[in-house]
Amino acid sequence: MHTRRIGDIAVGAIGLGGMPMSIEGRPDEQRSVATIHAALDAGATLIDTADAYHLYANDVGHNESLIARAVATYGGDTSDVLIATKGGHLRPGDGSWTRNGSPEYLKSACEASLKRLGVEAIGLYQFHRPDPAVPYADSVGAIRDLLDAGKIRMAGISNADPEQIVLANEILGGRLVSVQNQYSPAFRSSEPELALCAELGIAFLPWSPLGGISNAGALGSRFAVFAEVAGEHGVSPQQVCLAWMLAKAPGVIPIPGSSRPETIRDSVAAADLQLSAEHLARLDQP
Ligand SMILES: NC(=O)c1ccc[n+]([C@@H]2O[C@H](COP(=O)([O-])OP(=O)(O)OC[C@H]3O[C@@H](n4cnc5c(N)ncnc54)[C@H](OP(=O)(O)O)[C@@H]3O)[C@@H](O)[C@H]2O)c1
Repeated sequence: MHTRRIGDIAVGAIGLGGMPMSIEGRPDEQRSVATIHAALDAGATLIDTADAYHLYANDVGHNESLIARAVATYGGDTSDVLIATKGGHLRPGDGSWTRNGSPEYLKSACEASLKRLGVEAIGLYQFHRPDPAVPYADSVGAIRDLLDAGKIRMAGISNADPEQIVLANEILGGRLVSVQNQYSPAFRSSEPELALCAELGIAFLPWSPLGGISNAGALGSRFAVFAEVAGEHGVSPQQVCLAWMLAKAPGVIPIPGSSRPETIRDSVAAADLQLSAEHLARLDQP
């Protein structure tokens, strides 16, 4: 698979999103490990996770621990694998998602993630979601402190608007390497952030790129043009969707979620799918 850059690191152009392996509907550990190993076999080297990808109040960090175990038990070379995690979201165990962007909390969450991942420094740490109760600059200031202390190698943000991207990059002294926002055929309103990241040379990681766990399988029936182009290429509509995103800018690195080896293998193949200008223009139509 061809690579793209996050800061000074090259990663496979399609990453793996870990969330479906740890929240509602998650599979057993054996299937999850097989999925992560299939992603690595196929050349994916970016794995996206978060401390909040868990189900119960007592299994915080389920996804981080799972990924750490799967990478440790992989037979091949994993020295180029970048595990990107996040802090700032919480799941109290009743199905809801809450936020805490206070500097003290983010620093303690990072320490817990370091332990679960079993590393001295987290490869990429992302502030998960702005907390309206805490000034954004304070939350990002904690991420800067973690970077300065060597607890994290690279810093990213998620669910940020253009103003927050500029502010975060300023607070981080120009060291913001990635922005992770929702972006899919159904959700295109992150295009200003995508364009800003392209201009600033910051990686843009579309989350729920296939429309989210419950809609991903129906992408082709929800968006006929993706099914039409897929039919012309003899590939899945999901592959067309990811190839369309890759064509948006050289810094775009989609992170499709997966809980089965078959789906991540199919998604990774999008890195080799070249779409014509005519096809891209058709897919661009909302
Ligand atoms: N920063 C944030 O706030 C935020 C929010 C949400 C998600 N995320 C991140 O973004 C990642 C992706 O988002 P997501 O998991 O919500 O949604 P998604 O990637 O749009 O959809 C995930 C679902 O797509 C299916 N799928 C994957 N590849 C496929 C293919 N080639 N053909 C058919 N189906 C396919 C998978 O099915 P199977 O399960 O059957 O394999 C999976 O359950 C997450 O895993 C997480 O890491 C971040």
